[in-house]
Amino acid sequence: MLFLVGLGLSGVKDLSLKAFDVLKSSNHVFLENYTGVFRDLKSLESLISKSVQVLARSEVEEKKDFLVLARKHKVALLVQGDPLSATTHIGILLECVKRKVKFEVIHSSSVFTAVARTGLSLYKFGKTASIPLPEPGFNPSSFYKIFVSNQLIGAHTLFLLDLKPDRDKYLSIPEAVKILKKLDSKKYVNKFFGCARLGFKDELIVYGSASKLMKVDWGAPPYCLVVPAELHFMEEEFLKRFSIP
Ligand SMILES: C[S@@+](CC[C@H](N)C(=O)[O-])C[C@H]1O[C@@H](n2cnc3c(N)ncnc32)[C@H](O)[C@@H]1O
Repeated sequence: MLFLVGLGLSGVKDLSLKAFDVLKSSNHVFLENYTGVFRDLKSLESLISKSVQVLARSEVEEKKDFLVLARKHKVALLVQGDPLSATTHIGILLECVKRKVKFEVIHSSSVFTAVARTGLSLYKFGKTASIPLPEPGFNPSSFYKIFVSNQLIGAHTLFLLDLKPDRDKYLSIPEAVKILKKLDSKKYVNKFFGCARLGFKDELIVYGSASKLMKVDWGAPPYCLVVPAELHFMEEEFLKRFSIP
């Protein structure tokens, strides 16, 4: 049996009791560390009194040894946030169906709902876009096209910022703002919400112009960026009262 378990946003205290019970009773516990940032491994291991094996992308998506184990044992695969939000883990479930391995998904808190902390209505978000880390010779702009189509229908855009935790590389908010500004010949981008560590004790949300966001000390990842479309009066009201630094 495979349990695909969401860790939630900010560390072991975000684990649900259901997730905790599953982890306590699993024979093997794995953590994939390429779609998110999880810094609480030691606390997690002491909480569930067993060791957690960290898996690289190739071990999850190519080797898939954990699925061989799941035919005979209780196996848990931990994923930061919600396990099926902005991941390709539906592929793991399809593989379970193919291999006749039973599975259960334990959902958790996610950047997709925590972004409501900005005061923007989740009903008014359009398609999510991901901004990749710049690489020599690789200059995609599909995320900008998604943003423009969202703007045209009056929808806010959530930008996820690329991360490679195994190489300690994270696209920062100032870098992402610069990338967007460079592509923005139509001058759609005006104000942003920069969000660092949503749902963490030291979460930071700053609303403002590109130059304002460039000057902020954002601290540790994860980060995301939101470009709002036209605001509803309730969203504007919240923005006025929102005492974010
Ligand atoms: C591949 S997505 C995985 C999302 C995750 N499964 C979830 O449900 O939250 C990872 C990206 O989400 C964003 N993200 C995740 N957690 C975040 C947080 N607490 N604060 C800000 N952004 C976050 C970052 O842009 C990060 O690069």
